[in-house]
Amino acid sequence: MKGKFVLAAMAVGGIVFYLSGCAKESADRLSEGSTCDTTGVSYSKQILPILEDNCYTCHQGTAASSGIDLSNFATLQAHVANGDLVSAVTHTGAVTPMPYELPMLASCEVNTIVAWVHQGALNN
Ligand code: HEC
Repeated sequence: MKGKFVLAAMAVGGIVFYLSGCAKESADRLSEGSTCDTTGVSYSKQILPILEDNCYTCHQGTAASSGIDLSNFATLQAHVANGDLVSAVTHTGAVTPMPYELPMLASCEVNTIVAWVHQGALNN
């Protein structure tokens, strides 16, 4: 009797695991599919609006958090070069996750920033 219960529990667990795996996969595909085009990312058209909406409140001008003024392209480039920008927005590595104490950026915004960096972080 006990053996049957364990088997049934394992079967149900297996099905739930299988289904949740599928749901996650399709959600990932959706966020990286046609709705998020990261080919030839433009700084002015794609990156700037993300930074303006999510980062400039704290990282613009002389009173910027940690003295990091991301509206200054040279400063932004420095944080691309040392890896902090990607680490901060992907929540990886030793840097403080950004936006500070706020939810992570949408996955398409993160992917767009990462793609822009990989494409050379152009001022385009
Ligand atoms: C609510 C204010 C706030 C917002 C919004 C914000 N930051 Fe920050 N940022 C901070 C603070 C405060 C620090 C210093 C954190 C520390 O030293 O632990 C910081 C530090 C950083 C650092 C340096 C990380 C380190 O640990 O050295 C980077 C890079 C950065 N922010 C990028 C961003 C980006 C990109 C965004 C937008 C996606 C953003 N921040 C949004 C407040 C903010």
